[in-house]
Amino acid sequence: MGDDQDRWWKEGVLYQIYPRSYADSNGDGVGDLAGIIDRLDHLAWLGVDGIWINPVTVSPDADWGYDVADYTGVQPVLGTLDDVHALIAAATERKIKVILDLVPNHTSIEHPWFEESRSSRDNPKRDWYVWADPKPDGSPPNNWLSGFGGPTWTLDDATGQYYLHNFFPEQPDLNWWKEEVRDEFDRILRFWFDRGVAGFRIDVAHMIVKDRLLRDNPPATDDDHWMVKLTGQRQIYNANRPEVHDVIRRWRQVADSYDPTRILVGETHVFDLDTMLGFYGQGDELNLAFNFLLVHSDFEPGAIREIVESTLLGIPAESWPVWMGGNHDVYRFPSRWCEGDASKARCALVLLLTLPGSVFLYYGDELGMPDTDVPKERLKDPVGKRLYPVYGRDPERTPMQWSPEPGAGFTAPGVEPWLPFGDPTRCNVEDQRRDPDSMLSLCRDLIGLRAAVPDLRGGAYARFAAEGGLWAWRRGERVVVALNLGDDPAELDVPNGMVRIGARRERDGERVEGSLNLGASEAAVVWLDEAQA
Ligand code: GLC
Repeated sequence: MGDDQDRWWKEGVLYQIYPRSYADSNGDGVGDLAGIIDRLDHLAWLGVDGIWINPVTVSPDADWGYDVADYTGVQPVLGTLDDVHALIAAATERKIKVILDLVPNHTSIEHPWFEESRSSRDNPKRDWYVWADPKPDGSPPNNWLSGFGGPTWTLDDATGQYYLHNFFPEQPDLNWWKEEVRDEFDRILRFWFDRGVAGFRIDVAHMIVKDRLLRDNPPATDDDHWMVKLTGQRQIYNANRPEVHDVIRRWRQVADSYDPTRILVGETHVFDLDTMLGFYGQGDELNLAFNFLLVHSDFEPGAIREIVESTLLGIPAESWPVWMGGNHDVYRFPSRWCEGDASKARCALVLLLTLPGSVFLYYGDELGMPDTDVPKERLKDPVGKRLYPVYGRDPERTPMQWSPEPGAGFTAPGVEPWLPFGDPTRCNVEDQRRDPDSMLSLCRDLIGLRAAVPDLRGGAYARFAAEGGLWAWRRGERVVVALNLGDDPAELDVPNGMVRIGARRERDGERVEGSLNLGASEAAVVWLDEAQA
């Protein structure tokens, strides 16, 4: 199961914080680092072992922090470098590690490197970015399309060349063939690791190295995952180059040179399992590679079981899977997977917290917080503005709901938050803490059970049953997890034991004598009487 120093991220529960939306300490309507410090007791109470915070570095916010203008400075609206130090110190007191977000694929258009690079064709930093001549007819150098819409190239009139941006034009891609760029990022990693940061979540980790010849991407085919088909092309030349593994190995060496070792968690936004698993390398690349196949699956037992089992089967022996139900880029799982059905959301939480591997909760998941309808005039996400009303990322980024009062415990009463609140009167920490039957209580109890029962942390997975909507598996010797995601009640043969946690809490403590009945959208974690060989 790995060294003791790995336990926190392998066996523990990690929690993603979107800093602008977690807690606003100074009443300006925007969450901040001091606000996170104020709320660490909630996370300690919940049983969280580590937090990943979306970018806190300096940014003009063309893409809310994912356009970095200074990799070692802190965005003023979020706080200062001292606040980061204070956060790490306060989190450490509570045995919580802090993971930051690293955005190496691109910088902000306002980063001094890009300002130099675009200043002239012979500037020494010109080839820190990817510049190419127009085609003879003046059109972009190749057919690459941005996941955010439109071509990945923008013509810079002053110097007559196009620059590459896999995302918005405000996010020019760095040239990772350049040794100086690689050196610079080694320094950035060390800067934060030296300050006690426990690891990085790496933005679009699969994408950073581009084809040197800038060859055209081939079209997507009918067999491709629906996410691949969105742009109509397979991203094999503007992403997913084999050389990206060299860079990740290099970062892993930096991370491993620290004591305790730091971890690398990759946003491996790929839809082919082998490609995703390839980012673990021979145990010498990412510590964790996010599984977007699960995130973008229907919450349907056959489909998710297939993804989970093929991941567990395919993952190299020395590597460790990781699961999440969502993040700041996708609709919240209670809405997306469960369409507002609270029983299903409880099943999803049982699933996430009992599969073998690490788990990341997204802030608000512990409440079953749904998406918020954000009216057009309040949209902040540039993707949402471009694609309104079809798609956008604001619904999952609205403020954390701490209490039913005005301001929702997020900000001072009467202050307009940067994104509108959902419905804090219906869903908030304060009320749910008082209710033993709430999603929050379920979440905390599942985390507590995971901490108490070694089989739930390290026990091998073995499928127990799979019929219709039913899916059950054993963890180690003494635990059975059963989910009924179907519309009809189902019965499962289980050795004698006891329901330790039922998604319907009135079943906690119920004896199981050879069989377990589960209603529609119901889950249970059963503790068997005797060890099962
Ligand atoms: C990642 C981030 C997303 C951002 C994009 C470009 O996918 O998670 O929020 O917009 O990269 O940096």
